Amino acid sequence: MGSTIENVKNKVLIIGGTGYLGKRLVKASLEQGHETYVLHRPEIGVDIEKVQMLLSFKARGAHLVPGSFSHYQSLVDAVKLVDVVICAISGVHIRSHHILLQLDLVKAIKEAGNIKRFLPSEFGTDPARMGDAMEPGRVTFDDKMVVRKAIEEAGIPFTYVSANCFAGYFIGGLCQPGKILPSKDSVLLLGDGNQKAIYVDEDDIATYTIKTIDDPRTLNKTLYLRPPQNILSQREVVQLWEKLIGKELKKSSIGKEEFLASIKGLDYAEQVGLTHYYHVCYEGCLTNFEIGDEGEEASKLYPEVKYTTIEDYLKQYV
Ligand SMILES: NC(=O)c1ccc[n+]([C@@H]2O[C@H](COP(=O)([O-])OP(=O)(O)OC[C@H]3O[C@@H](n4cnc5c(N)ncnc54)[C@H](OP(=O)(O)O)[C@@H]3O)[C@@H](O)[C@H]2O)c1
Repeated sequence: MGSTIENVKNKVLIIGGTGYLGKRLVKASLEQGHETYVLHRPEIGVDIEKVQMLLSFKARGAHLVPGSFSHYQSLVDAVKLVDVVICAISGVHIRSHHILLQLDLVKAIKEAGNIKRFLPSEFGTDPARMGDAMEPGRVTFDDKMVVRKAIEEAGIPFTYVSANCFAGYFIGGLCQPGKILPSKDSVLLLGDGNQKAIYVDEDDIATYTIKTIDDPRTLNKTLYLRPPQNILSQREVVQLWEKLIGKELKKSSIGKEEFLASIKGLDYAEQVGLTHYYHVCYEGCLTNFEIGDEGEEASKLYPEVKYTTIEDYLKQYV
């Protein structure tokens, strides 16, 4: 009889495990009963927050594996310990952006030859659909596509996770760039505020990601995270907030041309972020396509996951 999702618990290596998403992946992997390995890069040195986080993972049963992107063999050795590799290396310019470092990891996975599934650092807009994206933000999608090409050329089994908008970045600021806390007075609508986007709690992103690693249905496919109640326009997000605080916000709006003009002259990292907002909030790049045969949708595959609705997510800010 073939193996089922229930009776196989693959061993997982998480790279970037102390990061914003990475720490949630470690937690979800341990919670879902996987033997979990976390790369411990010597470069973190005396970064006490990271060291203590790694120790807390160890206390919860994770194995810490020394390894570095500067020491190729250490990557090969780390990869040989497990069945599945998940990379959550940084890819947000306002923090840092190291997507292409994964090319060495791809090489290491190919050389190790034992990996049943690799999930590269994606977790956002599907880069395969962003061939016409604007400069300079397209670098994010271009780099992620370079990594995809290397994975596919190396014949490594993969799943790409298209997580759409991290709720913390988008919902906290009522979908306004540069804000991560909601005002109780006013909001700036991007365009007419009616373009639909998709928002996902970061812990749910991790839960769905770990759910999928043993699942044959997502092998060599993209897993799109589209929790149905979280497909909302900016106006709908604002309405949920207004209901929670019992007050209507003052609204102004910024048209497409004015928004694009406002990007010019900002520093590079801000420009990258704002062009992403442009594609999401003005062009609707997350919702303007149907998922085809190359993809699966997470809430349909894993209906048992009780995802956080945006209404509930917003309650923490009241
Ligand atoms: N859809 C969205 O709204 C959204 C928002 C944010 C991020 N994302 C995506 O999610 C993924 C993870 O982003 P994140 O914000 O969680 O990342 P992050 O916290 O900024 O960084 C993640 C990890 O990257 C590793 N790293 C950083 N600099 C490195 C270097 N020079 N060499 C080797 N490793 C380095 C570190 O790993 P150690 O633990 O080893 O120190 C760090 O913890 C990215 O692909 C990003 O594009 C999507």
